[in-house]
Amino acid sequence: MFPRHRPRRLRRTESIRRLVRETVLTVDDLVFPMFVVPGTGVRREISSMPGNYHLSVDELLREVERVAELSIPGILLFGIPEHKDECGSEAWSETAPVQCAVRAAKQAFPELCVMTDVCLCEYTSHGHCGVVEDGRVLNDPTLELLAKTARSHAEAGADIVAPSDMMDGRVLAIRGALDEAGFSEVAILSYAAKYASAFYGPFREAAGSAPQFGDRRGYQMDPPNVREAVREVAADIEECADIVMVKPALPYLDVLAKLASTCSTPIAAYHVSGEFAMLKAAARNGWLDERRAALEALTSIKRAGADFILTYYAPDAAGWLRETAC
Ligand code: PBG
Repeated sequence: MFPRHRPRRLRRTESIRRLVRETVLTVDDLVFPMFVVPGTGVRREISSMPGNYHLSVDELLREVERVAELSIPGILLFGIPEHKDECGSEAWSETAPVQCAVRAAKQAFPELCVMTDVCLCEYTSHGHCGVVEDGRVLNDPTLELLAKTARSHAEAGADIVAPSDMMDGRVLAIRGALDEAGFSEVAILSYAAKYASAFYGPFREAAGSAPQFGDRRGYQMDPPNVREAVREVAADIEECADIVMVKPALPYLDVLAKLASTCSTPIAAYHVSGEFAMLKAAARNGWLDERRAALEALTSIKRAGADFILTYYAPDAAGWLRETAC
């Protein structure tokens, strides 16, 4: 009881605070999402995501070199195709930007963990994540296309494929296709609890993947639900997901904490484009100390239970953490 009991004693100096700190964010917790486009010599900043670029493969390699120098363990690649069509056929093309980028990145940096986002929305003319018929997004016919896409990423050398489409049964379909093609060592990171969120806004501009009609609420999760996330994650683990993901991160820390306390596979969290853009915008207006706010946000995601975090802040955070360590 106060006055004998005084929690402030352990907050008095930085060395004491370091000793009793419960969560420590390190560079090992970070994965950097990147956008690959066709062509060469392309390096275009994405206006709503300052410091992030549309990169052709050659420019991407330079950026990956920086990532590797910072000791960031992994990247997640998104591709912007040359042409979009009804069924998103460039998604599984051997010569599309993502497949070329995976080959180049693995060749230049074999130790780096290269992940690929498996989805059709960047590749379809209607911007939905699956096959569309009469204005509906069909589940089962989409599975085969996702499986083909994942297999083509594995053939290019991806270490981990990450389906983000939210079709039912996609993890099982992808596992089957990978195993059949001899890629039993390629892991699946499932966007298991992916919510129909407004925070993907800047990404959709970056990827040109906004749905041309309707929205994604018929396949992505309803934001108010948490027990449903437990069910989604259980189903994906049953289908052999190696890692499950919660997305977005900050508005869903309760979901993350709940899953972390019940599920035995590693859990990732995606600090998405809108979460990044909010911090950037406030920092640019001089309203926030960017470094402190970003590291606090990332640390809170780890504290809630994430084993690693996909974040557009990865290079900045890695640099800041390195400075602090010196
Ligand atoms: C593709 C996909 C999206 C994101 C990752 N993969 C967009 C969406 O579902 O509309 C969002 C990433 C971000 O906002 O940073 N399905």
